Amino acid sequence: MIAEKTKTQDILARDAEHNSGLWNPGIVFTHGDGVKIYDADGNEYIDCLAGIAVASVGHNNARLTKAIAEQAQRLIICSQAHGSDVRADFYDKLFSFIPEYLGLSRVFMANSGSEVNEAALKWARVATGRPHFVSAKRGFSGRTLGVLAITWEKKYREPFEPLKYENDFIKYNSIEELDQYVTDKTAAVFLEPIQGEGGMYVADQEFLDAARQITQERGALLIMDEVQSGVGRTGKFLATEHYGIKPDMVTLAKGLGGGVPIGALLMSEEVAMKMPKGGHGTTFGGNALASAAGLAVLEEIEARKLLANAEEVGAYFTEKLEAIGSSKIREVRGKGLMIGVELKEKVAPYIDALKDKGVMVINAGATVIRFVPPLIMSKADVDKVIARLAQVLELDFSE
Ligand SMILES: Cc1ncc(COP(=O)(O)O)c(C=O)c1O
Repeated sequence: MIAEKTKTQDILARDAEHNSGLWNPGIVFTHGDGVKIYDADGNEYIDCLAGIAVASVGHNNARLTKAIAEQAQRLIICSQAHGSDVRADFYDKLFSFIPEYLGLSRVFMANSGSEVNEAALKWARVATGRPHFVSAKRGFSGRTLGVLAITWEKKYREPFEPLKYENDFIKYNSIEELDQYVTDKTAAVFLEPIQGEGGMYVADQEFLDAARQITQERGALLIMDEVQSGVGRTGKFLATEHYGIKPDMVTLAKGLGGGVPIGALLMSEEVAMKMPKGGHGTTFGGNALASAAGLAVLEEIEARKLLANAEEVGAYFTEKLEAIGSSKIREVRGKGLMIGVELKEKVAPYIDALKDKGVMVINAGATVIRFVPPLIMSKADVDKVIARLAQVLELDFSE
């Protein structure tokens, strides 16, 4: 007798008939609740992936789902060319989270990280009149044709060369290379305060201080890509706030809509006003539905004190990861609930084993397990993850 297909197998087979061929999904998610996510066969996972740092307030969050449903019944589309009541409320709430000393009082809304980074490149070009960028080795800012120039990984870039923008890659945390490559041709230095895709490397204070000083001296802008690290993930609304520096632009996306596509390019007044009318635009950016979602996420972060939770539970998570004491762990690093565990070997089989034990994670490069759970994660959730990770690290995947 031929065995019946599981629900997962059936859905994946139908998906495979039409998908773009870019991925080979092995799991089907059907619903979530808080930090838990469920697959089509009814298995439960603690979600330390969260759509890669997206489900900031957890799955099926009551405030978020209510706000989306209510807004959908009132008005879904309203572009930035027209005023929107809910977008104005969203702006008020968003800027209440941005410390005044940063001088970031303007925002351009879009729908993804790549889109806001594209916008930042254009704004930097037009504000400085310069052609050249500097970004970091291992940096990731997206895969659309403009930002590809500042994304490090060769396999993403090389098939599409020559690329649009001139860019030099410097060693992350190298002040000497900053000094060497930032010139009077540089429009902007583009950096993540914590490199997410590249392996969860944290910027040094001295490096970001130097980035600010050198760019200012040479007439270049400083752009912080907080698409992954922003919206409270590191215990402050912006990871940049840990450093006390004043960038000219900051980009946000992933966690801001709690899963609804959204992106925000924060800018100083001076930079924002340099774009000529019509110099940039978007149909969907800042739409009413996404604004309602963003507003609900920010209200939830405030009401449940999720910045403090990310800081406290993140510190606990890091402490417990270090306490596992496995000889396979090379380093635990990160801030708040943006944590990487670097192993001395490839992580792929450990990630699969964690999945089998009901914990969803993703890699950040070949040797780093990345933990970017919802900001509502509790210490009790962490304890469960740690117990399962400790068991998995006992397994032998050597050939
Ligand atoms: C730091 C950073 N910038 C930009 C992006 C691109 O964002 P998106 O996938 O929303 O286009 C990502 C995505 O992982 C990211 O981590």
